[in-house]
Amino acid sequence: MSEPRKILVTSALPYANGSIHLGHMLEYIQTDMWVRFQKHRGNQCIYVCADDAHGSAIMLRAEKEGITPEQLIANVQAEHSADFADFLVNFDNFHSTHSEENRELSSLIYTRLHDAGHIATRSVTQYFDPEKKMFLADRFIKGTCPKCGTEDQYGDNCEKCGATYAPTDLKDPKSAISGATPVLKDSKHFFFDLPAFDAMLKSWTRSGTLQDAVANKLSEWLDSGLQQWDISRDAPYFGFEIPGEPGKYFYVWLDAPIGYMASFKNLCDRTPGLEFDAFWSKDSTAELYHFIGKDIVNFHALFWPAMLEGSGFRKPDGINVHGYLTVNGQKMSKSRGTFIKARTYLEHLSPEYLRYYYAAKLGRGVDDLDLNLEDFVQKVNSDLIGKVVNIASRCAGFIHKGNAGVLVAGNAAPELTEAFLSAAPSIAEAYEARDFARAMREIMGLADRANAWIADKAPWSLAKQEGKQNEVQAICALGINLFRQLVIFLKPVLPNLAADAEQFLNVAPLTWNDHLTLLSNHPLNPFQALMTRIDPAKVEAMTRDSREDLTASATDTGAAQGNGELSKDPLSAEIDFDAFAAIDLRVALIEKAEHVEGADKLLRLTLDIGDEKRNVFSGIKSAYPNPAELEGRLTMMIANLKPRKMRFGISEGMVMAAGPGGEEIYLLSPDSGAKPGQRIK
Ligand code: 2FM
Ligand code: ZN
Repeated sequence: MSEPRKILVTSALPYANGSIHLGHMLEYIQTDMWVRFQKHRGNQCIYVCADDAHGSAIMLRAEKEGITPEQLIANVQAEHSADFADFLVNFDNFHSTHSEENRELSSLIYTRLHDAGHIATRSVTQYFDPEKKMFLADRFIKGTCPKCGTEDQYGDNCEKCGATYAPTDLKDPKSAISGATPVLKDSKHFFFDLPAFDAMLKSWTRSGTLQDAVANKLSEWLDSGLQQWDISRDAPYFGFEIPGEPGKYFYVWLDAPIGYMASFKNLCDRTPGLEFDAFWSKDSTAELYHFIGKDIVNFHALFWPAMLEGSGFRKPDGINVHGYLTVNGQKMSKSRGTFIKARTYLEHLSPEYLRYYYAAKLGRGVDDLDLNLEDFVQKVNSDLIGKVVNIASRCAGFIHKGNAGVLVAGNAAPELTEAFLSAAPSIAEAYEARDFARAMREIMGLADRANAWIADKAPWSLAKQEGKQNEVQAICALGINLFRQLVIFLKPVLPNLAADAEQFLNVAPLTWNDHLTLLSNHPLNPFQALMTRIDPAKVEAMTRDSREDLTASATDTGAAQGNGELSKDPLSAEIDFDAFAAIDLRVALIEKAEHVEGADKLLRLTLDIGDEKRNVFSGIKSAYPNPAELEGRLTMMIANLKPRKMRFGISEGMVMAAGPGGEEIYLLSPDSGAKPGQRIK
């Protein structure tokens, strides 16, 4: 027997200002399955995580809610921990980057980098909000795109024409926090000398630590030359002050990965025998793996190994990168009800359905994974209930009725048990390689063989015949044993099913090597339904509630993955009466409503507002697929909105509608009797 491996595993730290959704869960579930597999095999595998608690987004969100950042992160940590636990994600420790351990380790790493000459300083000129008295990150600046002239664009890129630019290129820039016009201001910044690690990174990224696609992407970055990395932010900022530099804080991405170490340190400090250095020192023999999404590869595969190298710690053995989650083939969408929070899912469905579906679709690559909700219902019902649980439910009754619940000794189909036994190494190899989809395919192939064998033997027919009782017992005893093997193979994915099966089988918690033996002369406990089919109505209810979530929480982000950054539009300032009075709201008669060729979402409306006609493009097509039905109807429009040049023509105003979007858009209408052109008071 080889020595158990010592393995430390992490998932990316979720931001402490947003809820966990099914896109996040793709990462935590896959990491958890891998960790459970390692533990199942007898390895020492430790899984740590934490909330990523620093940064200006969290500071501003707390301010908006009228609480301290500490209160905000405590509330969010409680919510996150409950979501993870209920999805059976079994961290050995879930900590916070706003912790003493992280403060100490961040200072230590910074000081070592500084002392080794890897920190540079220079002045940086940036936009500053004179009202909030803070420097503005690009996403907190809005203005008019310098290229196409679209208003209300972020400081780094235009959503309309796709141009990227510096915030200083924006026309008419405004702080998205206070609305003030920002001014340019200089400040001293601290930089980590990433280019000094160029040679190390070139060899490390090619040393088998990364999937090929990731290593290739990194080669492009490495070949185009690394830049020094700005690791400081000015006060006010929620984070750790840089040692000896009052008013200067570590940028959130500096201390976030150190949070992996801090969470582990926190665990070591309360676990006798667990040594921090055994896992993090340069000569450590333990393995270290980070699971992350493809959007944060540069932080983990460039900055992080360089920081570790420069401060005398070991580097990771693997960065396991996955793609994004799509739902029904598209980016998660609040209006379609496919931006599903972990909690909303759990209110309707069992976590193991999703764990299995993710496992069945997760390969080693960085491709996106699609949660197709129809396929989800079909696959889970067919594989887990139709194939796996079915074996136990078909056989258990005969054993209880015919043999007082005791499995007889013997092996009714040695060729079948041999097939199960010889499949085990390949299933283990697939798990080890994180090719969960292959592992599930092989396991379901075995389940098919077991079902076919039982169907062929038809114990239900034999049970009706005289003198066939021994045969029925032999068949069903093997059926239950094959079910037990399948449960052993599936345990990392389905820990609750495994626990219920262990209870029914009347056995101690199963480990991987238990597949080497069969139960014989063994009493079972009474059989209880181990898993029920997914009712498609519950999936519908979940998407309906996800749509409702949108109206309930205005602070959620768009469909960004693994990312709870501040809402895209932090401008929620009150307007004064004059601003309100400046809006020219009118009753409008929809004279004509028609499709716009080449536009997915738009209708072209010809509106009569009394003294003139207006051409308005409105994104209401999904709600009104037959535009003609709108003709003759009254609605309300903003008549003094600046005309907007669109790809299809000029839009001269905006009609008013309510609802989350998609099919759920409700055009507003005045009471009958209103006349086109009347102003709304
Ligand atoms: O992208 C994110 O959601 C970050 N909060 C991930 C941090 S991972 C690690 F480096 F801390
Ligand atoms: Zn533009």
